[in-house]
Amino acid sequence: MRKNIVAGNWKMNTTLQEGVALAKAVNEALKGVEPKCDVIIAAPFTHLASINGVIDQNKLGLGAENCADHKSGAYTGEVSASMVASTGATYVILGHSERRQYYGETSATLKEKVGLALANNLTPIFCIGEVLEQRENGTYLEVVKTQIEEALFDLSAEDFSKIILAYEPVWAIGTGKTATDDQAEEMHAFIRDVIAKKYGNEVAENTSILYGGSCKPTNAKALFAKPNVDGGLIGGASLDAESFMGIVTAF
Ligand code: PGA
Repeated sequence: MRKNIVAGNWKMNTTLQEGVALAKAVNEALKGVEPKCDVIIAAPFTHLASINGVIDQNKLGLGAENCADHKSGAYTGEVSASMVASTGATYVILGHSERRQYYGETSATLKEKVGLALANNLTPIFCIGEVLEQRENGTYLEVVKTQIEEALFDLSAEDFSKIILAYEPVWAIGTGKTATDDQAEEMHAFIRDVIAKKYGNEVAENTSILYGGSCKPTNAKALFAKPNVDGGLIGGASLDAESFMGIVTAF
């Protein structure tokens, strides 16, 4: 059975000290509950090793927000998948729309990153999603299908099974404009069907597909109630332990 997952994406927020305090607060809050989902936080590279020292990774998974598309070498400023793994983090967000939009990440670079993440035993949280224009002109299903096919469909079924997907309509990220439950469900069911056609029903049924984009404690319950929505990738609302926990306990 596929897992329910709530993952926080801190983006470029918090100093090291603030990030460690936030991680501690989430870790502490989790002690009092038995969540019906896996809980993950993805933090800036600079914070990972320190956070690893203050959380119980049996209850709270730790991830990076990116990794390089090369193994090692003369790539000033980049952080490799093996460096991420050496901090104790076990997840990595890849293909976030902000990386695609502002840093020119393409399916070709993402394919390299996914391969390197898997080779270093990191679980990719792979993001896909359409921009507003594609939602409005009706190409959104095709756009997302292509993003998945180009970056992931050269993987073996075994490797594909290690991937967590996150559908994040770009028009919903940080805008306060959440996709409706039905819009999310339509896309998630479609994605599962695309996976089933390539890898078969069993792999498709076991793939966790998270929703992301202005997910909050107030709308998480209805989104997570949809049969193909297996949790959330949470930006803004993950920067406060209480609101993040409000989403975790929505399951
Ligand atoms: P948001 O971000 O929850 O702030 O909309 C989600 C994301 O980009 O992962």
